[in-house]
Amino acid sequence: MPVALPAVPSFATGLNKESAPANEPIVKLFGDGEFYDGLPYLGAVDELEKKFQAITGKGKAIYMPSGTMANQLAIAMLSGENTKVFVQDTSHVYRDEADAAQSIFNKRLMPLAKNQTFFTADELKKGIENLDSEEVFKSGLGCVSIENPVRRSDGRMVPIDEIKKISEYCRSKNIKLHLDGARIYLASAWSGISIKEYSSYFDTVYISLYKYLGASGGAILCGEKSLIEKMPHMIKIHGGNMFGNWLNAAMASYKLDGIEDRLQEAIKRSKEIFSALNQLPGIKISPLDGGTNIYSMKFPQGIQGQKFGESLNDYFIRMPRPDANSEAKISVNETLLYRETKYIIDAIKDSINKSR
Ligand SMILES: Cc1ncc(COP(=O)(O)O)c(C=O)c1O
Repeated sequence: MPVALPAVPSFATGLNKESAPANEPIVKLFGDGEFYDGLPYLGAVDELEKKFQAITGKGKAIYMPSGTMANQLAIAMLSGENTKVFVQDTSHVYRDEADAAQSIFNKRLMPLAKNQTFFTADELKKGIENLDSEEVFKSGLGCVSIENPVRRSDGRMVPIDEIKKISEYCRSKNIKLHLDGARIYLASAWSGISIKEYSSYFDTVYISLYKYLGASGGAILCGEKSLIEKMPHMIKIHGGNMFGNWLNAAMASYKLDGIEDRLQEAIKRSKEIFSALNQLPGIKISPLDGGTNIYSMKFPQGIQGQKFGESLNDYFIRMPRPDANSEAKISVNETLLYRETKYIIDAIKDSINKSR
């Protein structure tokens, strides 16, 4: 029976060296299959870490396979043997990390500011000072973690003045401070405060590589050199030392260059788009109080969501459909730059008209 072989380049049958172009894939009589050589792998991770070291102004940066691991390892290592960690009630660390702090790292998360975006410096101070009278056994304060901006609060920010006060207080008491800055680039773009300034108030800073930097996963953690140098061992024992990490590093590195300029341009265009749409009867797009890239949009009454979505699809635009109250939360991001502003305005206007 004839066996179907994959098509091979014609030089495969020739025996002279010249007929094999240098950039053809290499036959390897070793290993278990195709894999990419060590150089790009090491190079991409290294390059990304160097970029973030400079961006944050910290002593060292390290690639982490996930944000959850970055948060958990940072908090555990900053806390040492001490068990109590103050966090926002709404934070990812408190609500969305499967109790990793309690079950894996022997930390007890102490939530502050129920359902609020942030806790104030005074609330933190009170929480710490009350420990003495509220608890008998002194298991020790490990660290404080702050998420900014806050995902469960529709991307609202922790005010910079509060961050400064908290940082000052923590430094005066030698309490370590971690930043879950998964989306810190959004906070920076909307507040005008640089990543370096935000980072300067914290001991460790984590930034996501996939929320807006285009990787398929991954995170970066920055902090003092001596602390970050302990991380490779911690990453390994928690199963995160993956061979393919370089791919995420390379993807994020590519998007990282120019991200701040593109976000500023997206903000500028969103203002033009929103002000044109706000001229239309029944439409009101407004920023959230203390918000970043998420806006609330009121649609005219009686818009049929499905028709609206289908019409926009024809323009290669997607946006949330109005809910039962004719409202939706819409987001600004760099994909706004993929079309002219006027095209986007006209497409939304036309789709609203078609879906009444
Ligand atoms: C604020 C925040 N922190 C941490 C994470 C965790 O990131 P990862 O999915 O990489 O574990 C997320 C992810 O949704 C997040 O939104």
